[in-house]
Amino acid sequence: MVAGVRVVVVVSCAVVAAMAYALYVPLPDGFVQPWKTRVVLTVTELAISMFWVMDKVGVANKTFLMRSMEKYVRKTHSTLKVEDTEFDRVKVRTYQPRTEGATDRPAIVYFHGEDFVDAVTASLAKRLNYTVVSVEYRLAPENKFPAAFDDCVTATRYLLRNAKDFGVDPSRIAVAGDSAGGNLAAAVALKLRDTTSDLPKVKVQVLLYPALQAIDFETCSYRFGITPILTRHQMIVFWSVYAQGHANYAAALQANNHTAPRVLEQLRKSRLDWSRLPREFNAKPLASRCNGCGDVKLWAEIENVFMNPYFAPLMADDLANLPTAYVVTANHDVLRDDGAMYAERLRQAGNTVTHRYWHVGFHNIIIFSQIPEGDETFDEVVGFLAENL
Ligand SMILES: *[C@@H]1O[C@H](CO)[C@@H](O)[C@H](O)[C@H]1NC(C)=O
Ligand SMILES: *[C@@H]1O[C@H](CO)[C@@H](O)[C@H](O)[C@H]1NC(C)=O
Ligand SMILES: *[C@@H]1O[C@H](CO)[C@@H](O)[C@H](O)[C@H]1NC(C)=O
Repeated sequence: MVAGVRVVVVVSCAVVAAMAYALYVPLPDGFVQPWKTRVVLTVTELAISMFWVMDKVGVANKTFLMRSMEKYVRKTHSTLKVEDTEFDRVKVRTYQPRTEGATDRPAIVYFHGEDFVDAVTASLAKRLNYTVVSVEYRLAPENKFPAAFDDCVTATRYLLRNAKDFGVDPSRIAVAGDSAGGNLAAAVALKLRDTTSDLPKVKVQVLLYPALQAIDFETCSYRFGITPILTRHQMIVFWSVYAQGHANYAAALQANNHTAPRVLEQLRKSRLDWSRLPREFNAKPLASRCNGCGDVKLWAEIENVFMNPYFAPLMADDLANLPTAYVVTANHDVLRDDGAMYAERLRQAGNTVTHRYWHVGFHNIIIFSQIPEGDETFDEVVGFLAENL
């Protein structure tokens, strides 16, 4: 075959494969523009896989590729002053509105999720006219827990202490994050509550489909339905790598057999009581696949980290006196019940909580400005911050 023909064949095969995949990807019901949603999801998932491969074979790093893609996903804005700098040796990117002499702006310290490094930060700064600081915390597997958490605490404290230098009112600072970043935002809020200092308090915590526990991978949202963008397996690998820097025990987590006997059952009656979530969340409760089983040896090795509230905020016993919370969950997301349980427990502990549950929604939906549900989710986050920060 001539080279040109070969290229055409390869490209056609790729296009057909992508289209077949798009048709195959199951899409939950109810989206206003189902086909557009399907295409957007397919392109995103294919791009993420492709970036992962390119990163592995050394063509280009994933961070750089994701950054390039974000420009397409949510356009960045030239009206902002964007700077890469360090807060006490932690890398951060600051987004500031170009207003001279502002002294009383609110600010958001934002912790990005795994893949989309800062898809939402620029848009938040622009829409709200706030300062936004995106923290480039150290990543696993090179840096396991608590590296990322420590970086996020350090950066937040730095801004609380030096707010005036950024034209920011230190009593109007929020922590926010999506997915793994939602975990970090919740953990930072806990840590700052637990430490006595003369710094002002964080005012608001925004948790977008946060990952909050690594004990039970059989909550209803982990076991049912169609979950685009994020699978149960990806979450298990994420938690393993964050805890230990490797995923050697992923099989035990996959079997939900990583705690000692009865630990899971006990936690399901206390800190992880998803049976008490609203009916819609428990449409089809199932018996545990692993009742009474467990792995004493593995649990002895991982218990300290897995039960640490700064690693998994749902493990905290006491959730009182935390910042006003805005928790976003989506029906078609394995992390739905993590967020719903946390919102419920925050409320029971006496905090002001808004739990915004999207029946038609999936993980990371906020970054998809191309579909109406994505824009709506984002607009409501903006609205909440405008009113409460
Ligand atoms: C990724 O690539 C970009 C652009 O080539 C580079 O600036 C950046 O330092 C790289 N990051 C890592 C972690 O290698
Ligand atoms: C942005 O905030 C600054 C200071 O808080 C204010 O002076 C300015 O008018 C605001 N701009 C817009 C477009 O809201
Ligand atoms: C759970 O782990 C223990 C210890 O490795 C093992 O003996 C048991 O068969 C496992 N149970 C399941 C259901 O995987």
